[in-house]
Amino acid sequence: MQIDTEKLEAYYADAPEDIALSDIDLARIPRHVSIIMDGNGRWAQARGLDRSEGHVAGVDSLREAVTTSVRLGLDVLSVYAFSTENWKRPQHEVDLLMHLFATTLIHELPLFHQENVRLRFLGDIEALPEETRKVFQQGLDETADHDGMVFALAVNYGARAEIVRAAKHLIQEVEDGNLEPEEIDDERFSQELYTAGLPDPDLLIRTSGEMRLSNYLLWQLAYTEFYVTDTYWPDFSRWDFLRAIRSFQGRNRRFGGVAKA
Ligand code: IPE
Ligand code: IPE
Ligand code: MG
Repeated sequence: MQIDTEKLEAYYADAPEDIALSDIDLARIPRHVSIIMDGNGRWAQARGLDRSEGHVAGVDSLREAVTTSVRLGLDVLSVYAFSTENWKRPQHEVDLLMHLFATTLIHELPLFHQENVRLRFLGDIEALPEETRKVFQQGLDETADHDGMVFALAVNYGARAEIVRAAKHLIQEVEDGNLEPEEIDDERFSQELYTAGLPDPDLLIRTSGEMRLSNYLLWQLAYTEFYVTDTYWPDFSRWDFLRAIRSFQGRNRRFGGVAKA
């Protein structure tokens, strides 16, 4: 995506000591950054607050991450908001999250219009409570014509379920005579995933220090660079985003080949 340098510089004024916009190469911005937004509960607990306060505070970080991604000219920002395993949480926490997704999306639609952001969902959103599902559909409809950055929100997402679903659909296509087994390759398989048509993430950020994937994008992260920060999601700022990109730009991505001289 195009970068508006003037806007970007204004956005990144008041730099802290350890990082500045000039530390990154704007010609080598990752196309797709994905974030496992973790640590809301611990952020709240550390302040003697209820876990739900952490989720509410996390919304501000997410808004900032969307704006940061637009300013930096990313093609895609994807974020993990609710996993297929998160249904195991106490009912009141699940209810709060589902309600928060709906109210936040309604509230943020003007931002998506203003920044020309197209919304997508990763995961089985049909299984969500009606309020959430309706608002998600409204978000899809209202942003369908936008041709700026794609913002992909993973809700009720699990990578294993995604892969099983893809396999089942391919089998159905073969049984229906629409597809020959020989035609199934990496690319054809990718088309069956929730991320169909999106480039694989170049950079995966996980907040709050956990070094695991928690069933996130198992297929798509095959050659993604990982960046884990101890910062809890509600504290994650535009500067942390820049630190992650600086780290990414210092990597040597080989894709199984040999290092470039
Ligand atoms: C991430 O924060 C948000 C969701 C999974 C919805 P957590 O709620 O997992 O916070 P911690 O990991 O318990 O601190
Ligand atoms: C992963 O975080 C899911 C999201 C951030 C939405 P979890 O907090 O659910 O992951 P685990 O349980 O620590 O692996
Ligand atoms: Mg967690």
